Order: sequence, then C-alpha cells, then structure tokens
Amino acid sequence: MTDKAIMTPKLWTDRAPEETIQVYKEWADEYDSDLAKRGYYSPLRIADALKPYQNMISGPILDFGCGTGISGEALQQIGFDDIHGTDITDEMLKKAEDKGIYSKLWLSQPGDAPAKPGTYDLIVAAGVISLGAAPAEILSDVLDALEIGGHLALSFNDPTLECLNYDKVLDHEIKAGRAKVLFREHGPHLGDLNMGSDVIVIQKT
Ligand SMILES: C[S@@+](CC[C@H](N)C(=O)[O-])C[C@H]1O[C@@H](n2cnc3c(N)ncnc32)[C@H](O)[C@@H]1O
Repeated sequence: MTDKAIMTPKLWTDRAPEETIQVYKEWADEYDSDLAKRGYYSPLRIADALKPYQNMISGPILDFGCGTGISGEALQQIGFDDIHGTDITDEMLKKAEDKGIYSKLWLSQPGDAPAKPGTYDLIVAAGVISLGAAPAEILSDVLDALEIGGHLALSFNDPTLECLNYDKVLDHEIKAGRAKVLFREHGPHLGDLNMGSDVIVIQKT
C-alpha cells in the first residue's frame, strides 16, 4: 500500500478499533520513513512543551500508543531514560521494540486502561487520542492511570479538534476538577499536508 493511500482520508475517520489496527498493521513497515519524508512534528513539540515540568517527574513514564517508537525517541532525547510503551497494533510495537529505547513494552487491547489507577507520574499520547485512533473517552482512563499531580502530554490534530468530542471530554474533566491545562499551543503536525495540532500539557488535580 502506498503512503498516500494510508494518509488520505482513511486515517482521520471514526471507525471500529479492528480497522484502526488494520491501518497501522499495513503501515508499520513504512511508518517511520513516510513520516520522515512528510515532517512529523507533534512528538518533538510535546517533548519541548514538557521541559519546564521535567524536574517534577520521577519514576518510569508511559508512552501510550507508542507506535513504532517515534514519540519515545523524542522523550529519550530530552533525557527520560525509563520509558514504558504500549500499543494495540503488534506490528507497530515490534518496530518500537527494535529501537531498544523502552524498558517495558506490551500489547494492549482496544479499550484497555493504560495502567492501574495512580501508576504513572507522566503519560504521553502523541497522535493517539485522536479521530481514527483511540476514542475520546480514553482520556479519562489515561487520567485515572496518573498519580495526583502527575502530567499528561498529548496532541489533538486538526481533524480531532474539528470533531469536538475530544475537547468535550477534556472540558468535562476540567470542570469535574480532575485536570488543569498547564500549556496549550497550536503548531505544525504534518508538514506536507499543512496539518496542525494542539499540543496540550495537563496536570491531574
Ligand atoms: C499516529 S500513531 C502514533 C504513534 C506514536 N505515538 C507516534 O507519535 O509516532 C497512533 C498509534 O495509536 C495506536 N492506538 C490506536 N488506538 C489505541 C488504543 N485504544 N490504545 C493504545 N494505542 C492505540 C495505533 O495502533 C498507532 O500505533
């Protein structure tokens, strides 16, 4: 399958998790080279946005929906050295394993909570809680998996922002007093498509 066939418009639609797994299974071999050609900025922007909070974070961190490990590499580059990763697509996960940057990796099932409540001080979800990937409701499960005071750093790309469901869940969590937005900025997501994303750093309250 060519990269064009995967990227447009199949990627950013609401669909069953089995179809999402199929899309990423077919894309796994070429994912890194495709994105290097296109310019994929959200993982680097997330890592950059995390720098002011880094000294507040201890213990292992979780790269939720780690894919082939591009997001883990960005986290490693800013100094995180105990990174866990999980994903629902085995073929993506195997690529992440080959990179040797994760201290723990596991295959999860769609709808699985990322971890037991209060497990992590930082969870990153780069391009994962998005239209065409994990549903908006998973945001609440991801918050559950954080310690109080812990951080969640994620990106919502333009199609996800237009969908509104994702911001609705985030707003609900803020109004319920479970989350506080520390940083939010729109910037580049995919260079060749001129697509942007909001990078958001949230603290669990
Ligand atoms: C756009 S890729 C992002 C991968 C990586 N974070 C990156 O920045 O390159 C989306 C990833 O989310 C995974 N995914 C989709 N739904 C998920 C879910 N419910 N739980 C965990 N991972 C999921 C997909 O298998 C895919 O690897």
